Amino acid sequence: MTVSLKLSLCVLAIGSIGLLGACKPAQEAAAPEAVAPAGPTPVFSINEMMVMIVDQPGELLWHVEKAGHAPKTDEDWYQLENHAVSLASAGTLIQLGGTGPTDMEWSARPEWKASANQMITAAQAARTAAKAKDLPALITANGQIVDACESCHKVFKPDFPTGGLFLHPQPAT
Ligand code: HEC
Repeated sequence: MTVSLKLSLCVLAIGSIGLLGACKPAQEAAAPEAVAPAGPTPVFSINEMMVMIVDQPGELLWHVEKAGHAPKTDEDWYQLENHAVSLASAGTLIQLGGTGPTDMEWSARPEWKASANQMITAAQAARTAAKAKDLPALITANGQIVDACESCHKVFKPDFPTGGLFLHPQPAT
């Protein structure tokens, strides 16, 4: 746009409050409101989330493989779907890091995101299986969940001592 055209547009805009901004120098127009709002921040450590919202739904999904614990009722299947959706959602959450000393560093690593996404995909398969009340498919998905847990632990906690929280007692056999 030529200088004279720009000037004449400004002149035309005078009197219309809404258009006055068009006459400001470009630099001023791009001022601070362009800064993106901060994203959501985690309120628990990775250790706490592992024990409470990753391991817990994982154990409850694996539990169906124990003798006498195959799901029988609609309610049993519904609960399994619930655990699968919780686990998949935890996979998203742990990609935001956590409040532990190493958590933000971990979650920024590409291997972390890859393992967390692997866990999401496996948990989604478990959800699909539970929705279809398909036990063999659920058992296959359960194995994929184990692979995802191991893929991350192998890289990030081979010798890393736990952050202080350990497993809740396993579901009764
Ligand atoms: C993306 C990486 C990642 C994935 C996926 C992952 N974990 Fe973890 N997990 C960790 C890290 C790192 C720690 C150590 C955290 C700490 O103590 O600060 C941990 C800690 C734990 C703990 C706490 C006790 C301990 O031994 O330190 C349990 C239990 C656990 N994970 C279970 C699981 C299960 C079950 C799965 C799969 C359903 C899983 N994790 C998937 C990274 C992962």
